[in-house]
Amino acid sequence: MTDDVLLVHGGNPLEGEIRVRGAKNLVPKAMVAALLGQGPSRLRNVPDIRDVKVVRGLLQLHGVTVRTGDEDGELILDPSHVESANVADIDAHAGSSRIPILFCGPLLHRLGHAFIPGLGGCDIGGRPVDFHFEVLRQFGATIEKHPQGTYLVAQQRLRGTRIELPYPSVGATEQVLLTAVLAEGVTELRNAAIEPEIVDLICVLQKMGAIITLGTDRTILITGVDELDGYTHRALPDRLESASWACAALATKGDIYVRGARQLEMMTFLNTFRKVGGAFEVDDEGIRFWHPGGELTAIALETDVHPGFQTDWQQPLVVALTQATGLSIVHETVYESRLGFTGALNQMGAHIQLYRECLGATPCRFGARNFLHSAVVSGPSKLIGSELVIPDLRGGFSYLIAALAAEGTSTVHGIDLINRGYENFMDKLRDLGAHVELPSERASEELVGA
Ligand code: EPU
Repeated sequence: MTDDVLLVHGGNPLEGEIRVRGAKNLVPKAMVAALLGQGPSRLRNVPDIRDVKVVRGLLQLHGVTVRTGDEDGELILDPSHVESANVADIDAHAGSSRIPILFCGPLLHRLGHAFIPGLGGCDIGGRPVDFHFEVLRQFGATIEKHPQGTYLVAQQRLRGTRIELPYPSVGATEQVLLTAVLAEGVTELRNAAIEPEIVDLICVLQKMGAIITLGTDRTILITGVDELDGYTHRALPDRLESASWACAALATKGDIYVRGARQLEMMTFLNTFRKVGGAFEVDDEGIRFWHPGGELTAIALETDVHPGFQTDWQQPLVVALTQATGLSIVHETVYESRLGFTGALNQMGAHIQLYRECLGATPCRFGARNFLHSAVVSGPSKLIGSELVIPDLRGGFSYLIAALAAEGTSTVHGIDLINRGYENFMDKLRDLGAHVELPSERASEELVGA
């Protein structure tokens, strides 16, 4: 056994305080935005997670100096000497994250060409990047796909354009923003994603000198400028991590104060949390989440783009729903394969049935395409410790919650994946009183005892 395995002794409520920092789904993108500036940028509230390390490495390969600032969680990124990177060096990052695709626009502006390695990210559906390449073509880039990655070239300055996304994709919206700000003329983007992390990225770009109007009906207007400067920005807090801890409090009958959590970006989650029977209290520094006792209530839930119920909240909440009385219905409309993790919950004693039909008010893209994307959760179920293999980031954290709520010991394999998006999760779990143990720790205890 290696330290990619965690023994979780469940059955105790998680209680205490943890802190969340900047959002995983904003920070790496704000780091990429620094490439667009003439001068250095200063990003605050940066968490120590794998996606940040991957982007830091890629920026450094392109001549950006990245160093930590005086404040804890501060990065200073200086793009004064952007240069082409060695393809083999870039390729070493293949499969590590989805962020490299967002280097396209900034590198095309700075160097006239870009090489993007094969992408990584969670296996929760096909995760195509067709929208990204289509919009880059519309800006005037030429794109060649090779087995080891994609080469892009801009023969001349990219030009603003009119784009309508087939679906309000977060990544494709970011691609447009990061490309349009320095393109010649105006770009009109329709059917844009408007997640809080996108609005925060727009704030970053505006600080750099960009002209961006966030209109009604998912329309964004960007007037290209000739040059951008650096920025100083404090990343918005991670609403996805905050919700994960909230679900951990609910599922384990615990009480967790999440310092740094903010109400504004979590309103939809908070309403749902309350409907299920969870209690919360907001103050200026964070949000306290707890199980107030009594039964939890089954609910009908549909994931959606913002301001709907975020797909990344779904997996942790489903674990809490296994403890609610009655039938909960979950319709996942953002990713076609984000319910596969429920098989392991059933193995632990949950009763979750998957369906190919859209079990929700909104028919989605997956109903007619034979994807198991709806679930009926029948509860409450007593969960029993089990052998678990982490499938993806949020599914993985959900397994930890389930293992903590379960009776007995679970052996959770592949915990390293959680480091992609949850800073210091082992220390946080221990701070909350979780009984977790790495096999290497057990071995050294046995040696001491021997
Ligand atoms: N899509 C396409 N073609 C594209 C791009 C997207 O068909 O070119 C589809 C996807 O297959 C999916 C839907 O559009 O069905 C939405 O995908 P989107 O582009 O919005 O997702 P993303 O940008 O790849 C980000 C987050 C995800 C989060 C989604 C939705 C990052 C690094 N990732 O992904 O976060 O679930 O937006 O909000 O920002 C996570 O944090 O665990 C995570 C997966």
